[in-house]
Amino acid sequence: MTNDFPEGFRLLPGYFDKQAQEALLGEVRSVVRAAPLFTPVMPRTGKPFSVRMSNCGPLGWVSDVKGYRYQPHHPETGEAWPEMPAVLKALWADVARDAPPPEACLINYYEGKARMGLHQDRDEDTFDAPVVSVSLGDTAVFRLGGTARKAPTRSFRLSSGDVLVLGGASRLAYHGVDRLIPGSSTLLSGAGRINLTLRRVTSLESGT
Ligand code: SIN
Ligand code: FE2
Repeated sequence: MTNDFPEGFRLLPGYFDKQAQEALLGEVRSVVRAAPLFTPVMPRTGKPFSVRMSNCGPLGWVSDVKGYRYQPHHPETGEAWPEMPAVLKALWADVARDAPPPEACLINYYEGKARMGLHQDRDEDTFDAPVVSVSLGDTAVFRLGGTARKAPTRSFRLSSGDVLVLGGASRLAYHGVDRLIPGSSTLLSGAGRINLTLRRVTSLESGT
């Protein structure tokens, strides 16, 4: 089945072993202490997301009634986002070798019935760099489609420590999380899942 994944798509199961997952979780906890999880709402309708979010790195992705965007500060505290942990910069250097450095790391926290509807990551100024994502905690049933909303989709599981790279032809693929598999990991103290999504936001030309 992996044979027919789009060019530029990579699933790296178990990229982070248990010890590395614990270290990364420690980093995420200190980010979230400085930049608390917030509940984003949908543009226009104001309907709350079922996941809570935070960010680290120079830019963070936020959503509120005014729309989706990247901004350098937390929407509630007004503080700059915490620095991106070195281990995430190293991951990017390893799997997105040709891309300029990541500017945003979105932290998604899923609990209980939290899910993420099918969407494209397209709020960036450039799509040259891949999207790199890390899963921690309970396994997710992930859904991947094509670059058209109506294209067929397939689902597969993302377990704690897995890394997913959406580059090349998969950079603008629709994707989402159908559900969690409760009790599938003991990494977090309770149930739940953390997803870290690393992205390049600005193009090098516009950044200079
Ligand atoms: C996202 O697309 O923002 C999250 C994906 C995931 O949780 O694996
Ligand atoms: Fe996404």
